[in-house]
This record gives sequence, C-alpha cells and structure tokens, in this order.
Amino acid sequence: MKVLVIGSGGREHAIVRQFKNSPSVTEVFVAPGNDGMKKDATCVAIDSLEFDILTAFVHENAIDLTFVGPEQPLAEGIVDYFEAQGLRIFGPTKAAAQIEGSKTFAKELMIKYNIPTAAYETFTDVNEAKDYIRKMGAPIVIKADGLASGKGVIVAMTLEEAIYSVEDMIGNQKFGESSSRVVIEEFLEGEEFSYMSFVHNGQIYPMVISQDHKRAYDGDRGPNTGGMGAYSPVPHLPESVIQQTYDSIVLPTVEAMATEGTPFSGILYAGVILTDDGPKVIEFNARFGDPETQVVLPRMTSDFGQFMTALLNGKPFELKWSNDAILGVVIASYGYPWQVKKGAILPDFSKFNKDIQVFHAGTKEVDGYFVGNGGRVILVTSKSSTLKQAEQQVYAALAEYNWEGFFYRTDIGWRAL
Ligand code: AMP
Ligand code: GLY
Repeated sequence: MKVLVIGSGGREHAIVRQFKNSPSVTEVFVAPGNDGMKKDATCVAIDSLEFDILTAFVHENAIDLTFVGPEQPLAEGIVDYFEAQGLRIFGPTKAAAQIEGSKTFAKELMIKYNIPTAAYETFTDVNEAKDYIRKMGAPIVIKADGLASGKGVIVAMTLEEAIYSVEDMIGNQKFGESSSRVVIEEFLEGEEFSYMSFVHNGQIYPMVISQDHKRAYDGDRGPNTGGMGAYSPVPHLPESVIQQTYDSIVLPTVEAMATEGTPFSGILYAGVILTDDGPKVIEFNARFGDPETQVVLPRMTSDFGQFMTALLNGKPFELKWSNDAILGVVIASYGYPWQVKKGAILPDFSKFNKDIQVFHAGTKEVDGYFVGNGGRVILVTSKSSTLKQAEQQVYAALAEYNWEGFFYRTDIGWRAL
C-alpha cells in the first residue's frame, strides 16, 4: 500500500518511520514534512490545509491511505473533505475533532456522560471570569477554549496570576479567537499520563501508555510547552490504573461520541491525571501526541500498514507491543516557547548508535547541515530493556555533542526513575 502522512513535526516523522518499517507499505509520502524526513519518505510541498491540492495528489498517485498528524487540518475538516471524494483517510471528522478543538465541547460531553474530569465554568466576559476566580481562590487553572499549540493552559498558583491570565486571554486575545472564551477549572493534583487509542467504528485498540514533560525547564518548572520529552512505559503506574482509565474514560467517551451523533474515528488521546479519587481527564486530543508518539509507536511490533487496513475494514487484529523502554529528549531552540532564535547549526549526529533515534521536528538543511527551524527542533530517543538504561544512553549520547543555540531538559523520566 501507498501511504500519505499529513504534517511536518516529530510526531509525523515517527508515523512516517513506522509506515516505512512496515512490510505491507511500499511507499511513504509526507506533506509537507521537513528536510530531516527525506531519508524516510518523499516530501511533497503541499501545506496541510490545502485540501484540494492534497486530494488531487492522492488521486494522481493512487495513495491507499492518508494519515493525519496535526490537529489544525482535522479541526478544519480534512477528513470530511477526503471522504466526500471517496478517499480513505484516518482521523476524526470536523464534528468529532471538536473534542480537542473546543474545551467547552469536551467538558460538556464529560459532564453529561459522567466521565471524570475537573469541575469547571466557561467565560467570555473578563469581569465575570475575575469574580469567579476570586470566589474559587488559587490554585486554579485557566484554559483557552480553542487550539493554542499546547500553550493555552495556565496553572495559576496565585490569584494575581489567574486574574492576569484571563485579562491576557479574553482581554488581549492572546490566542486570538481561541481565547475569546476560556474554561476555568479546578486544580487537580496527581501523576499525569497519556493514554492514546486507535478508534474506528466503535473498535478501540489502546496503545501502551507514556508520560510527557510539558514544562520547559528541569524540575517541571517554567512555562507549559508542546512537550519537552517523554517515555514509555510508565512503570510506576499499575496495570489496574490503566484498566480503570479504559473503563471509566476511554470506553464511555467513544460511546458518548457515537450517541451524540459525532462518532469518533482516529487517535483518541486522553491526557489523564491520577487523583486520590481515581483517574480524571485533563484534556482530550483528537490526534497523536507529540512527543509521546515518538516513544510509543516504535514499541508497536505488528505491521502498522496491515493493522490500519484491518482497523478500517473492521477486521479483528491482534495488535502487539514490545517490552522495550523508550525515553526521548527534545532539543529546543534557545528561547522556546517564547521568542525563538532560529538558524543555529545542529551537530552532525550521524554517529549515534543503532538504539538511538532522531526524529526531526523543526529542522532545515542548509549546505549539508541541519539548522534549527522552529521551537522544538529534534527529539532524540534511546531504546533499552529498562528506562534507567534508556535514560543513561540518551544523555550519554547527547553529552558527546555541542548544542550551542539549543537547550534540553536533563531530567526526562525523573518521576519514574
Ligand atoms: P493541557 O494542554 O490541557 O494538557 O494542559 C497542560 C498542562 O497543564 C497539563 O499537562 C497539566 O500539567 C496542567 N493542567 C491542566 N489542567 C489542569 C488541572 N485541572 N489541574 C492541574 N493541572 C492541570
Ligand atoms: N504532548 C502533548 C500533546 O501532544 O498535546
């Protein structure tokens, strides 16, 4: 089969590589991809929002399956567009993608179907939001209602910070239209993990779980980012918690989406926090997580292409995972997640050993070198039989090079280790 992957980040690089390593897949294209993916796929210079050009490409090249990486094209209806032309694509429709694109939609669904999540209120008026914050007190969590690249959440530890955040989001439209409405919710405490599942026509295939590190700096300090590193498995979370998450969150959510007339197909990502009252939903995404995908997908030992075909045809499939531990560290441009300095030259890391993998997120090739071309630039992972070893290997490999112009966290995996 011939596959087209939509997107250009590290997550898409992991999807591309998994298809490339899949015996049933003959050719992998990626639109638009990035220079660092050229070894693994044919990059096609089409933007992920140019649906008409993408479908023309799919027709011309007889692509069998299109796999969507990022949230934006999903929220703008890429799946509806492809399906109207009878093309096979994996992802949620525009209506179902609201589970990520509108926090209010997700919250209302959870409340209606008793899916455990933080208590909340929604606001479009700054003064009402401020009154609510004063009534509830800090810590409290402020979230832009719409998409904000993982940066639209402020966990305010003080009243001042909470009030400043709503002024910034609603008043100054910090995230444009996405933050003209905010969700203000109860602060929850506990261990977080990412639970992703393949979903189609009521079938649910859970993946192995992972843990992301959302804060920019060591010790989980600094601003929230798209994610600075991840690892899988999460050995300090028992199997019973994973089962409970499936029973109380994943299954009821898939059923609720169908009951509401917006059946979900694609990757359902549940960001979960294990509170004293059990697992609760922090957020839903309608796509693979980044950087979680880079540490989860390589653990799949089944043929990815074959699995996707079985899933879309409604045929039972035994989806298999390895016991490997994978830990990945993001190399980000200096200044991320604020003002990013692009153009720093990356070292030549071609001599990494075979258990180390590099996923390109924001790189560009200039005169035979890769340079930083975004906030998150690459993710470096190591695979081993234990997380401890994977962690030691990845940091030992990174220590061999000069990362001037970039930074990375030195404590990925600390909660497990
Ligand atoms: P999100 O983008 O929704 O995943 O939020 C980013 C991060 O903010 C999460 O990974 C959590 O660490 C934190 N967060 C979000 N909601 C809450 C909450 N209700 N209580 C505590 N922390 C939260
Ligand atoms: N790493 C979190 C996300 O993809 O939303």
